[in-house]
Amino acid sequence: MEHLENLLRQIDMTRLPRHVAMIMDGNGRWAKSRGQRRSDGHTEGVGSVRRVTELSSDLGIKYLTLYAFSTENWNRPQEEVDLLMHLIGWAIEKELPDLMRNNVRIHLLGDIDRIPEEPRARLTGARDATAANTGLQLNMCLSYSGRWELTEATRRIAADVAAGRLSPEEITEDLISSHLATGGIPDPDLLIRTGGEQRISNYLLWQNAYSELYFTPTLWPDFGKAEYAEAIIDYQNRERRFGKTSEQVAPKQQA
Ligand code: IPE
Ligand code: IPE
Ligand code: MG
Repeated sequence: MEHLENLLRQIDMTRLPRHVAMIMDGNGRWAKSRGQRRSDGHTEGVGSVRRVTELSSDLGIKYLTLYAFSTENWNRPQEEVDLLMHLIGWAIEKELPDLMRNNVRIHLLGDIDRIPEEPRARLTGARDATAANTGLQLNMCLSYSGRWELTEATRRIAADVAAGRLSPEEITEDLISSHLATGGIPDPDLLIRTGGEQRISNYLLWQNAYSELYFTPTLWPDFGKAEYAEAIIDYQNRERRFGKTSEQVAPKQQA
């Protein structure tokens, strides 16, 4: 606790990331290393979701986007897919009172129609129940992948062109962004991946164009507020140049 408070004091509250995205990886390995079932790792991971949501909310971060289930994850053994679906629905319902108390708004990104009916109803129920909340927006990516999203967006844009509602010249970066699942949400400033892999795994491919990347070997169930704070401090020590030179972006020295 003392360690966490010490870290929190080091965060510059005037330069918080507006949007943090996370790839929550390492549940299976966490369980295996203890001789437990993979499902135990997923269950344990719910606690980490609670911790990062709470700290994001307490700090005043506006958007937190969590990769909970990818399009590719449908290819896992059916038993694990079933368990994950059940767990996601159960967890969202269990956390709902706390989410309400913290004024968190749930937003669902992905091919939600593919989610089985029972967990889907719990998810959309939580989304609807929190729709008027004005604090942290928690984006849950479920049955989501960047290529799925870009394909969907392209289809809709092409349909508009074919119907004569849009001309090819009107297709701009902003128009493409607005057709993505994240339409209206600023791009992530910071992307955190737990579990040691250093890859993007089809996550927010368009939106992560200029995100700062933070990879940690910590397995998701072990990821807590202190390491999240460390990631934010690390982010705040970076210079985001967006293609410019250091001289162009460095704050002017006081005379
Ligand atoms: C992340 O943990 C959770 C999901 C992808 C749903 P994993 O289940 O991928 O855990 P590892 O990578 O096998 O350890
Ligand atoms: C990425 O984790 C997807 C989620 C965290 C939901 P994976 O464990 O599926 O990633 P890969 O397949 O190892 O890249
Ligand atoms: Mg994994």
